[in-house]
Amino acid sequence: MTDQNLAIVVLAAGQGTRMKSATPKLLHPLGGLPIVGHVLATARELDAATVVAVVRHERDRLAEVIEADLPEAVIVDQDEVPGTGRAVEQAVAALPEGFAGDVLVVNGDVPLLDAETLRGLVAAHRAGGAAATILSSFPADATGYGRIVRTPEGHLDRIVEHKDATEAERAIGEINAGIYVFGAAALRDMLANVTTDNAQGEKYITDVIGLLREAGFDVDALPVSESWLVEGINDRAQLSEAAARLNALVVRTWQLAGVTVQDPATTWIDVKVVLEPDVTILPGTQLRGATVVRTGAEIGPDTTLVDTEVGAGATVKRTDATLAVIGDGATVGPFSYLRPGTILGANGKIGTFSETKNAVIGAGTKLAHFNYVGDAEVGEKGNLGAGVITANYDGVNKHRTTIGSHVRISTNTVLVAPVRMGDGAYTGAGTVVRKDVPAGALAITVAPQRNIEGWVAEKRPGTEAARAAEQSGAAQESGE
Ligand code: UD1
Ligand code: CA
Repeated sequence: MTDQNLAIVVLAAGQGTRMKSATPKLLHPLGGLPIVGHVLATARELDAATVVAVVRHERDRLAEVIEADLPEAVIVDQDEVPGTGRAVEQAVAALPEGFAGDVLVVNGDVPLLDAETLRGLVAAHRAGGAAATILSSFPADATGYGRIVRTPEGHLDRIVEHKDATEAERAIGEINAGIYVFGAAALRDMLANVTTDNAQGEKYITDVIGLLREAGFDVDALPVSESWLVEGINDRAQLSEAAARLNALVVRTWQLAGVTVQDPATTWIDVKVVLEPDVTILPGTQLRGATVVRTGAEIGPDTTLVDTEVGAGATVKRTDATLAVIGDGATVGPFSYLRPGTILGANGKIGTFSETKNAVIGAGTKLAHFNYVGDAEVGEKGNLGAGVITANYDGVNKHRTTIGSHVRISTNTVLVAPVRMGDGAYTGAGTVVRKDVPAGALAITVAPQRNIEGWVAEKRPGTEAARAAEQSGAAQESGE
């Protein structure tokens, strides 16, 4: 049920300079979603009356993601005044007239934060009656974070940013997680008094805490159970650490749901992937995007599947597949490359060094070795021998190849598209199919073979080949 007394503000306007990237920090992916996508998904779970997202740097790219993930969010553009305090100030101005509930402010760069922790914070705030309640933590390395300064009695007094902190303050192990609940009225009042008088020349949201305390309000800090929950991502080292942490959680969740993951350290599973019980995942496997793997299938080793569907009992070994569908009981790999639009039927096979694209391959049909099949449709129970390829590109346009069921296409056949082969048709080895092949016909392109006797002795005298030929001739003559 929608919490009418709750508004959420997601801060997403920062530049993320420490990433040193042309891509805005919050759009760097982990677990298959942009950093901010995780925060938006968590915000959505809280079902607040209003969500405001503040953008500025690369605002259109951010806004696109926000509109897709959380269409109900109000997007606010931060002006040229820098800092998290200014971002919150402008977000609060966009709340519905007279909103007097609680404002939950979340930094956009804390992807591992979960809804349960946020709900706990809101509940603690409502139970405690403070003007603000914030999350704190004790990370192994507090460098860069704002420190929680407490009075000798242990009451939260203020937050000092790393860059503004004294040596003694930098020694404090308790940090500000960047997640706060404020009573809306108190927040509005204090924001008006936040200045840019600090090392970074920014309005800090953290200054509101000290201002509330000076004005005689209570503020509580709630330490989180595990510091990684609130780790902020500022640089790419932190990004990879958070990604590994998230991945470990995802792998474990699937293991507990009945999936064998032999080597969690080398298995990467995006958050949107769906796996069924009794799937086996071997080392070096990446399952990305909206990949789905049905029961009994075995994936890996060394396989990357992107937005790919794998049927029950299929085997996919040392394969790279994107936007492909692999049927029940099918076999793929080792060393196969399935490009978008590949649909392999039940019990079909795409084997060693075979590549497919935009190809619908019928049930039981086998492309066992060295094939390229693109822009093609192949019926059921066919066999495409080693080296069979579709020549789908004439240098300007792509053309389709249509092949019936129960075909036997011999090794090194080239199907020059557009071309059709009927049901039950055959080709001979090395055939170049330029004309349609009717059902049941054998297509051969015969270039007669000529044997030029004695060519090696004449043209390559003194070579190993010539000696071998000579000896074999002598042996035959002596009747051995
Ligand atoms: C902030 C906190 C710090 C805390 C840390 C937790 C402040 C002043 N400091 O520092 O106390 O320990 O988070 O991770 O708040 N943003 C805007 N507008 C801006 C600047 C930033 O929306 O003008 C957004 C960013 O996109 C980001 C979030 O606010 O999502 C935090 O900004 P960041 O620069 O990463 O703050 P920190 O230095 O990490
Ligand atoms: Ca940060």
